[in-house]
Amino acid sequence: MRQKIAAGNWKMNNTLEESIALANELVAAGSPEGVLTILGVPYVYLDKINQIVSGAPGIEVAAQNAHQALSGAFTGEISVKMLSSLGIKYVILGHSERREYFAESDALLLSKTNTALAEGLLPIFCCGEPLAIRKSGEHISYVINQLKASIFQLSAEDFKKLIIAYEPIWAIGTGETASPEQAQEMHAEIRAAIADVFGDELAQEISILYGGSVNAANAKDLFARADVDGGLVGGASLKSDVFIQVMNGFQ
Ligand code: 13P
Repeated sequence: MRQKIAAGNWKMNNTLEESIALANELVAAGSPEGVLTILGVPYVYLDKINQIVSGAPGIEVAAQNAHQALSGAFTGEISVKMLSSLGIKYVILGHSERREYFAESDALLLSKTNTALAEGLLPIFCCGEPLAIRKSGEHISYVINQLKASIFQLSAEDFKKLIIAYEPIWAIGTGETASPEQAQEMHAEIRAAIADVFGDELAQEISILYGGSVNAANAKDLFARADVDGGLVGGASLKSDVFIQVMNGFQ
């Protein structure tokens, strides 16, 4: 059985006070049996939120990014070593907003992934195509090529530690969700590509999350698909009542 995961990505939202309240409400609700809940928290709140969830079974915290170097003269940056020293276990890497606004390439993301894994952090690695590529019908090869140029270069031993998130860019923050059929199609293609590189057994173990306008109304339908193992959720992870419904969206 693959791990079911409800991951929130808070992005650059909320004050400390709001973040504490949100975390406390999620802890009070508890992660549903058999579901791993991961909160993608802004750097400045990581330590505080990690302390809040530390006693809650099945709730973990992720950073939203990390630098590729372990330390050094990189003013304003955060290293995986710093994150692991806080007891953070997960890090989101390769989000399309990082790729687009901060020019993060596949090669850089492979480097970040290697650094994170070497320090014992578990990456949630994002991929996904822009609208023009979806319209051109080239979306599957586009996403598989993103993976070939990055995490498919890892050893099998490292690769199996990853969580993959498929996030079509045209569905992020737009209210337009990929249909469950579209999500399932891409997830099955990603899993087949993993099987080609690393073998079927490993491919069956990897959790592949869908992200892009997941909400309380559509989570159940998406999560019911055979290769959709959960969600990476932006806007709908910022309100506890909504995100709790997403967390409970597994059959
Ligand atoms: P939304 O759920 O707001 O569309 O964001 C998705 C996302 O980018 C999660 O990483």
